[in-house]
Amino acid sequence: MRILVTGGAGYIGSVVSKLLLERGHEVVILDNLSTGHAAAVPPGAKLVRVDLRERAAVKALLRALEPEAVMHFAANIQVGESVRRPLKYLGDNVRNTLHVLEAMLGAGVRRFVFSSTAAIFAPSQQPLREDAPIGPESPYGESKYLVERILCWLGELAGLRYASLRYFNAAGAWQGLGEDHHPETHLIPRVLRVALGQAPKVQIYGQNYPTPDGTCVRDYVHVYDLAEAHLLALTALDGGSRAYNVGSGRGFSVREVIEVARRVTGHPLPVEICPPRPGDAPWLVADPGRIRRELGWSPCYSELEQIVSSAWEWHRAHPHGYSEEKDQGE
Ligand code: UFG
Repeated sequence: MRILVTGGAGYIGSVVSKLLLERGHEVVILDNLSTGHAAAVPPGAKLVRVDLRERAAVKALLRALEPEAVMHFAANIQVGESVRRPLKYLGDNVRNTLHVLEAMLGAGVRRFVFSSTAAIFAPSQQPLREDAPIGPESPYGESKYLVERILCWLGELAGLRYASLRYFNAAGAWQGLGEDHHPETHLIPRVLRVALGQAPKVQIYGQNYPTPDGTCVRDYVHVYDLAEAHLLALTALDGGSRAYNVGSGRGFSVREVIEVARRVTGHPLPVEICPPRPGDAPWLVADPGRIRRELGWSPCYSELEQIVSSAWEWHRAHPHGYSEEKDQGE
């Protein structure tokens, strides 16, 4: 298929693009490179620099390209920032997705794979099935849920075929593609930064959560396994629309992640307890039963040790992320 990947220069989008190319698809990446990296665009993919806020340009691109499917990764993704700047999320994330959907339907494109999130769920009994109570604790989660609702309506009324993949915590690196955000807010890269000597201590955001050791529990899924979920979801679209929780099914606390990182890096990783980060849910663990059963998804690299080891290898090889490669390329 010819597939348009928005945000394909970003962390998860670049890995999915690379896997799509490996499987023989044609990939066109739409990215404004505001947070993505030209160096992360896999060879063989075409990069088109368009900003999703530019409705007419998005429309023109979809018309010209006539892709068979769109995978939509491009979004603002920081839970903490969304609490400080709600409209950046409730506005841009939703509006930009509407631009994509409108352009798609205008061009007769009906297959859509959407990057949703575990952050749409209300705190409730874990692990979370797809029908667990919805109740985002941050504007980020809400923005993704609003898009899920829009997809439901367009599925019913406009013939859209979609998969909403609710990511739990994507982590790890694959074939030279790793996690490089500015600022970096995610736990594993921030921990590895300490191991590289780039920060003095690992900051733990809160230790009085209702979890076994008081720190937040998350379900870490290797970015390659997550990418495989996208390919399976794409193939299944013609059979109908669906939402899937994509996680390993196992939860690890912040302290447990740091402990694994100590083993992997051999660094003592001193910690500092900081106030909780607004918008953080105490506990997010997937029940991946539906995606296993219906799509035959089965994570291969999502042992925490494998995730942290692959990330560590990438960060050692790219201590300043993609910036050096980007400087050379520009
Ligand atoms: N944390 C720390 N110290 C840090 C960084 C993070 O204690 O330096 C904690 C956070 O408070 C949280 C946990 O580590 O409890 C994981 O935080 P991340 O920022 O790595 O990930 P989040 O769980 O906040 O969010 C991620 C993605 C979202 C997605 C969500 C779903 O960024 O897009 O997972 O679980 F929605």
